[in-house]
Amino acid sequence: MINRPESLNSLNIKTLQEVDTCLDYYGTDIRFLLIKGSGTKAFIAGADIKEMNSLSENDFCDFLKLGQSITLKIEAGNFMSIANVNGYALGGGFEIALACDFIFASENARFGFPEVKLGIIPGFGGNVRISRRVGLHIAKELVLSGRIFDSNQAKTFGFINGIISSEKMEQEVFSFIEQLSENSFHAMLTAKSLHNRLFYSDINLLLKDELMNCSQCFNAKDRTEGMNAFIEKRKPNF
Ligand code: CAA
Repeated sequence: MINRPESLNSLNIKTLQEVDTCLDYYGTDIRFLLIKGSGTKAFIAGADIKEMNSLSENDFCDFLKLGQSITLKIEAGNFMSIANVNGYALGGGFEIALACDFIFASENARFGFPEVKLGIIPGFGGNVRISRRVGLHIAKELVLSGRIFDSNQAKTFGFINGIISSEKMEQEVFSFIEQLSENSFHAMLTAKSLHNRLFYSDINLLLKDELMNCSQCFNAKDRTEGMNAFIEKRKPNF
């Protein structure tokens, strides 16, 4: 569970490092990984903008590398991963959900890539993953508009597996896990890995491209204006 409810479970460096350590420590022993956010308002509201705004260029680049490495560890892990999305799954939070094998959303889930409003682009592999999932035009609508979409729109776009009422979420997701656990784990892992290869055979190359482009945006003046505007609770003036 991502547990920073005071900042809508946004991801700072410390939280990302803890997630990374957990994946390294438990990743080889578990069969199922359930990711959720603390509280009801947010799954993960993206990277911690306040911390990100104060990073040096090098530290920002390291931050992106860590985020990308985590999404790869989730995606390629020898376990079935499920994102349990209640509330906001924005930016880096949406990207973590997209790296999971399954995404279940409550009726109050909200998805989006608001990065363009901050002068940057998604940087944890979201460009690649969303584009492959929903196709070019919807991906551009998501990434270029920066708009936030509800769970019905997410279902129409095709990047979630189902909508479950928030009260029944835990129960239904556990019953889904129970159903999966009756299958051959070896066969499921083999299929997971094959489908990932079919879908993302060139992911490492594309992630490098994304990292370079996101870093370039971070070094441009729009990023300073975009992130300062968020912190000062005003509209950016690009
Ligand atoms: N980083 C840091 N703090 C955040 C945050 C974030 N991503 N999201 C929310 N918070 C903080 C707010 O600043 C606020 O703190 P204060 O009480 O100290 O003012 C607190 O959480 C509650 O948030 P709001 O008052 O803004 O709540 P709201 O209901 O009015 O709005 C929201 C909710 C629409 C999610 C809004 O908080 C928001 O737009 N958050 C930013 C979302 C965003 O842009 N995410 C992308 C980050 S960039 C990224 O993830 C890049 C990447 O891939 C590398």
